[in-house]
Amino acid sequence: MIGWVTAMTPADYQSWLSGGSAGGSMVENGAKLFTDLACSTCHVDNGQGRGPVLKGLYGKQVLFNGAQTTTFDDAYIRESILNPQAKVVSGFQPMMPTFQGLVTEEQLLQLIAYVKSLSEPPSAGPAPPPPAAEPPAVKK
Ligand code: HEC
Repeated sequence: MIGWVTAMTPADYQSWLSGGSAGGSMVENGAKLFTDLACSTCHVDNGQGRGPVLKGLYGKQVLFNGAQTTTFDDAYIRESILNPQAKVVSGFQPMMPTFQGLVTEEQLLQLIAYVKSLSEPPSAGPAPPPPAAEPPAVKK
């Protein structure tokens, strides 16, 4: 067979040419992948999902079944996505599927950037809500 077919729309092709996917930042694209690849169905912020909450872990120590620990860093996030059973987080089942072969190197970097962003101090994200105002003193 001669030639190949691409399913890219012209707009996607343009942004692919210019090196970015649909113009988003690494973190934005990672956030989208996190939903598209259904990571978000297991890694739920409220702790009710089947996987650990990923917020605020970057740079911390992770404890595994077998009492070993490692630092939660880029290399560990990469390993967790490509080979989740290599280190199973203490208290969790080894049920995360591998994404080896399902994500490109670029997508992997975007996912890592996104997971990392979950641990950034609030000043880097949207401004935290102002402290709750005291209810106005009602004079009777
Ligand atoms: C079927 C549910 C499920 C899906 C889908 C899933 N995970 Fe997981 N994930 C888990 C579980 C359970 C663990 C803890 C056990 C382990 O380490 O394998 C985990 C562990 C992790 C860890 C290490 C967490 C820690 O506390 O050390 C990272 C990072 C991670 N997943 C990222 C992802 C990303 C990114 C995706 C999507 C590409 C994803 N996961 C999809 C269930 C899931």
